[in-house]
Amino acid sequence: MERQEESCIYKTPDAPVEARVQDLLSRMTLPEKIGQMTQIERRVTTHAVITESFIGSVTSGGGSWPFEDAKPSDWADMIDGYQNAALATRLGIPIIYGIDAVHGNNNVYGAIIFPHNIGLGATRDADLIRRIGVATALEVRAIGASWTFAPCVAVLRDPRWGRSYESYSEDHEITCELTKLVSGLQGEPPKEHPSGYPFLGGRNNVVACAKHFVGDGGTDKGINEGNTTVSYEELERIHLAPYLKCIAQGVSTVMASYSSWNGSKLHSDYFLLTEVLKQKLGFKGFVISDWEAVDRLTKPKGLNFRNSLKISINAGLDMVMVPFKYERFIEDLTSLVESGEVTMARIDDAVERILRVKFVAGLFEHPLTDRSLLDTVGCKEHRELGREAVRKSLVLLKNGKNVNKPFLPLDRNPKRILVTGTHVDDLGYQCGGWTKAWFGLSGRITIGTTLLDAIKATVGDKTEVIFEKTPSEETLASSEGFSYAIVAVGEAPYAETRGDNSEHIIPFNGSDIVTAVAERIQTLMILFSGRPMVLEPKVLEKTEALIAAWLPGSEGQGMADVIFGDYDFEGMLPVSWFKRVEQLPLNADADLYDPLFPIGFGLKLNSSGN
Ligand code: GLC
Repeated sequence: MERQEESCIYKTPDAPVEARVQDLLSRMTLPEKIGQMTQIERRVTTHAVITESFIGSVTSGGGSWPFEDAKPSDWADMIDGYQNAALATRLGIPIIYGIDAVHGNNNVYGAIIFPHNIGLGATRDADLIRRIGVATALEVRAIGASWTFAPCVAVLRDPRWGRSYESYSEDHEITCELTKLVSGLQGEPPKEHPSGYPFLGGRNNVVACAKHFVGDGGTDKGINEGNTTVSYEELERIHLAPYLKCIAQGVSTVMASYSSWNGSKLHSDYFLLTEVLKQKLGFKGFVISDWEAVDRLTKPKGLNFRNSLKISINAGLDMVMVPFKYERFIEDLTSLVESGEVTMARIDDAVERILRVKFVAGLFEHPLTDRSLLDTVGCKEHRELGREAVRKSLVLLKNGKNVNKPFLPLDRNPKRILVTGTHVDDLGYQCGGWTKAWFGLSGRITIGTTLLDAIKATVGDKTEVIFEKTPSEETLASSEGFSYAIVAVGEAPYAETRGDNSEHIIPFNGSDIVTAVAERIQTLMILFSGRPMVLEPKVLEKTEALIAAWLPGSEGQGMADVIFGDYDFEGMLPVSWFKRVEQLPLNADADLYDPLFPIGFGLKLNSSGN
């Protein structure tokens, strides 16, 4: 086919976006339109596939890097290569590269890892979260990507859910306030910007994605990808509310949820995806599926894929995260259009939305990586921001057995201290899931500061710091020699269904480790977890102080900042802390509300007791 003349409207940067969209759409063939609706994973992506199938988007699944410990410039080389293949097509429509930068650009070695959302929920600091969005956008753009699948705005109604840590809170009003990540990532739209229309401030911003639409945090028993059984009134009041805030900020994309509402799978629900999101709420960006979600409309997965595709595209999906079997996707969708089971009008609506976001995102003018941003990845300013977020996220649950004798802040110049527990010196555990790998890892997985590093950097030179991952009998026997102990325990990393849990017992015998030390030495316990866990009476009784640290990420120095008193604690529980799992679900609006610690609880250094 002939190359397009240079003067066409869609290639005119200052032409109105809608004119560019319509001009380009009018020139596109069906294969080019379906290509735009296709998102593939980098592991099946070649330059030829992009050029020959007119692919509109490429993504990295959790942990899918160019190679282990690839530098940001290696990422940029990979993504620019894909982009040049897209620009070589007849119409030269750029791809949009999407990635799960959900707490910093967490796939990338050396990127800042911010606290996961539940810890940010404890800060109640919307502007801090906006600033985290600004920093994250830079570290995403630096590698050549221009889209992150964040924020997750799930309202967490049951901490048995494996994705609890991806939620800001059980309270929809707190969640609504903290959707400011959208303005950080995309830029703050001007007051006159029409609600629902995609917005992007400039080349240092990225396209955001509000997920998972809708009700993902409200499933029965917290079962991941399960069923949310609520009235439409409650769905709207609790789970839809954060989307109104995101849409008002010009969020450019929304990801549909794997879960169901009253038995209707979201990916097949025309009422919610089209009538509510697009028509009632006026969302003008595009809806992307979740990973392989069209396949998962049936059990076994992928059964009669063509039928599932028909249902989900007609329900309102605009782009499909295929992510591997793109030939089957393209073939089936082409067949559906040719048979009239999916109308060209539906295809045009989807492609218009995708093109609109790409024009707004400036991808036609600036398709390749701005390499001047490479140095922002892991930069000092972002690490300071991470440190601020960590110290604001910690929640002080107990401070001194004796009401009038607070235990914290700790003495910085003690003679000898014991620092022990599975989570004291493990950066991977500190960061949790969606870090370096989909399910997270253990060990020194990236650049950062562990709790042990932070303690050593804070106490005086004369202090003897004894570190043991598990306290030995010998050490415990010499307990009188210790001024105090810091014991860090918690969950190992997980993501999604792997995190579903109805026991909430601290793993690795965490409670026993804490008790064994606290019986002999005055002890501060720090719990690293993606949600509230069972705190046994012996733990509550024997410890002097107790901190919920959530999953703080790479900047562990922020923990020392409050433990040793340079800053006061600010964190407040974003979720109710149950006494027993049998109480779950336990939310503040329940008739019988009897938590161990209520939502909003959090001590300050000058307050004591528990
Ligand atoms: C995952 C998650 C979603 C993520 C997507 C791409 O299964 O549900 O949150 O953005 O796939 O990794």
